[in-house]
Amino acid sequence: MSLGEDSKRDGFSSKFGIICAAAGSAIGLGNIWRFPYIVGENGGGAFLLIYLGFILLLGIPVMLSEFVIGRRGQRNAYGSFKRLSGSKYWPLVGLMGIVAAFTILAFYSTIAGWTLEYVYLALINAFKGLEAKEIGEVFDSFHTSAFRPILWQLVFMVFTAFIIVAGIKKGIEKYTKVLMPFLFLLLLIIVVRSVTLPNAGEGLKFLFSPDFSAITAKTFLEALGQAFFSLSIGMGTLITYGSYVNKKNKLPNISFEVSFTDTLIAILAGVAIFPAVFAFGMAPDEGAGLIFYVLPNIFQQMAGGYIFGLMFFILLSIAALTSSISILEVVVAFMVEELKLPRRKSTILAAMAATFVGLLCTLSFSSLSEVKLFNSTIFETLDFTASNVLLPLGGLMIVIFTGWFMGISNVKNEMSNDGLLKIRLFDAFIFIIRYIAPVAIVLVFLNSVGIL
Ligand code: PFF
Repeated sequence: MSLGEDSKRDGFSSKFGIICAAAGSAIGLGNIWRFPYIVGENGGGAFLLIYLGFILLLGIPVMLSEFVIGRRGQRNAYGSFKRLSGSKYWPLVGLMGIVAAFTILAFYSTIAGWTLEYVYLALINAFKGLEAKEIGEVFDSFHTSAFRPILWQLVFMVFTAFIIVAGIKKGIEKYTKVLMPFLFLLLLIIVVRSVTLPNAGEGLKFLFSPDFSAITAKTFLEALGQAFFSLSIGMGTLITYGSYVNKKNKLPNISFEVSFTDTLIAILAGVAIFPAVFAFGMAPDEGAGLIFYVLPNIFQQMAGGYIFGLMFFILLSIAALTSSISILEVVVAFMVEELKLPRRKSTILAAMAATFVGLLCTLSFSSLSEVKLFNSTIFETLDFTASNVLLPLGGLMIVIFTGWFMGISNVKNEMSNDGLLKIRLFDAFIFIIRYIAPVAIVLVFLNSVGIL
């Protein structure tokens, strides 16, 4: 089916705007909070290698497939599948994405709330003169209490909803253009301080020299989940954003540029964190609190640490915000286009529902810490299910749809704007999404449940 551009739809105004919005979605807590601690829990360098392999082999092709589906379908994740397939089964992939969006937004807002507390703590210079152990205690007493984490979570959700109600073009596109490069610069400065700490070599060794004996079946699943989470793929975020992209823009280039930047930022975060972990005598497998234990120590040790620390946590919160809006947009675009609800009402309803689940995630560090499913807290269960199951499963269906059901000529026409744009490596792309990506994802799943 050939579908033209829907001129009535809202959309991005420039390629730079698209890159900033998509990179804004990709770059977030996944890079700076999740990546270092997942690397830490999975043995360092060997994990990193597998992760990079997955980004190249699976991440970029899945991202490109999402953009192709969205721009061709000119609808939200559910609607694009419906229009392009004409079947009632494929849209279920879109629905699964909506479930994933709720799940991710819930636990994402917990951590985003923590970053807001750290903006506040940095502002009042709360870490001044504290030892590493005391800095750890500040985090422990904060995140295991109930009131403040919930308060910050609510504040964060209000910001997210506020931007989504207003639409994207004039808000987020404008700000991310300025703020994302700033975050990058600041991260570079922190990297320099961290690698010049005593004992920094230990940390770099941990990150870059692969110890293959640390690899287990779970390592592959964790790397796959992290790759999908970090690139914002597998749940229709980039189908939704793709539907706002002008036909003149080259989707392969956008996919590559966004993936490259996202990976660079994750590695930089690793280079900032691990030297400090070892320099301050901490363990890399500290879990979800890793950056909150480690980073305030680095700021303590650098000239201008007060201002750098403050700016860093502000920018991290913004990075979280530019990601969370993209998650909420998946749900809101669905509610507006499929359920025909007004945008404002959809936003409020979706944000409230996600907040409700989010509160359970926040409380799973305090009053609900004993509520466990398969030995994991509510927070851990939702994170694991969304990142390691729903996103890869969504990604699998997305490449199968694009490779086998959309029609190769439709894919080519969409990517090349009916032959007007020159595209390279098209055959390699098709080969990957038809054979390599589906097989690889299935193998990782089978491996992780012990069948292989
Ligand atoms: N990619 C975001 C991050 O790394 O923080 C998180 C995310 C956004 C995941 C959007 C999934 C998604 F659809």
